[in-house]
Amino acid sequence: MEPRRITIFDTTLRDGEQSPGIALQPDEKAEIALQLERLGVDVIEAGFPASSPGDFEGVREVARTVEQPTVAALARTRKEDVDAAVEAVAGAKRSRVHVFIATSALHMERKLGLEPEEVVEQVGWSVAYAAGRADEVQFSAEDATRSDPAFLARVCRTAVDAGATTINLPDTVGYSLPAEHAEFLRQVRARCPELDGVTVSVHCHDDLGLAVANTLAGVEAGATQVECTVNGIGERAGNAALEEIVMALRVRRETFAAETGVVVGEIGRASALVSRLTGYSVQRCKAIVGANAFAHEAGIHQDGVLKDVSTYQIMDPEELGLTMTLPLGKHSGRHAFARACAEAGIELDRDELNGAFARFKELADARPAVTLHDVFEREVAVP
Ligand code: KIV
Ligand code: ZN
Repeated sequence: MEPRRITIFDTTLRDGEQSPGIALQPDEKAEIALQLERLGVDVIEAGFPASSPGDFEGVREVARTVEQPTVAALARTRKEDVDAAVEAVAGAKRSRVHVFIATSALHMERKLGLEPEEVVEQVGWSVAYAAGRADEVQFSAEDATRSDPAFLARVCRTAVDAGATTINLPDTVGYSLPAEHAEFLRQVRARCPELDGVTVSVHCHDDLGLAVANTLAGVEAGATQVECTVNGIGERAGNAALEEIVMALRVRRETFAAETGVVVGEIGRASALVSRLTGYSVQRCKAIVGANAFAHEAGIHQDGVLKDVSTYQIMDPEELGLTMTLPLGKHSGRHAFARACAEAGIELDRDELNGAFARFKELADARPAVTLHDVFEREVAVP
């Protein structure tokens, strides 16, 4: 069976930038966008132009800069928002306006103060208004997963009829569980056959640590666009991490029968750039791009990977522009220690190795990290 092509909609520069304390300048947005282009994402959501003059400029800069990806801009169902989005993405080779409004009873009543009928009416005119003004229109039903399925289906139908070619069903507050998320998508699709003619997208937040799991469940349920951010940055606990979704689809390609256009060799560089320009460091234990993701400290593991790397690694870090490490710590074994000595040009016979390894273990019990310099009490060349 031919694998389904999954569209990667990267929202690092919009939802990712909604992380507190991040304020990217237009030239920084453009620099990240260029790296996203090298990474091979299909759509770059560059910002929310109506939110500030700076963001308008940022989106405009991205639209002028990249060639391959579609450039998207967010807009509420307001004429001035759509106008700002249209103008900001006008310079893009391919432009998309992304219109959204909330559809859950909670949001409609408590936040928007709108009746459901009024929401449907706003969806209809705003999508139709945007449709003539950009190459593509995407519609998102904010808080979709907590919305009434019958109402949601009606909203989706209205958006498709008005010209939206992508319908996104976000798990805005990260409330879904994976099996439930897949069932939710199947239900909406069953109630709204019009969705068969457009791209169905998932956008999951990580409030329960399930953003990537829910995204993958969405793919299994037929979604062909996934929304994500580099390093998983984003509102509150963040968005689904691009690198995790892409690698899950790749490592488990037989399960998903789906592929992306991502150039995985650019993942390491994209992660490092986003971290540097946003000031958000990547937690050490983060999957794929965390400093520990390919570090093997325990002796049994080190012995295993030295004999056959696939004993403890399901991906090749070099392929992602990353490296495997065998850090020396209290759990490390003789094999990794001997290898580190050999790599540093320290030649030891069996007795010398035994003595040095015993000294290393003694030091490692007393401190978090031990270097060969500590063990041999002299300068050691680290390769
Ligand atoms: O989380 C969300 O619902 C969003 C929408 C604007 C797509 O970010
Ligand atoms: Zn979001």
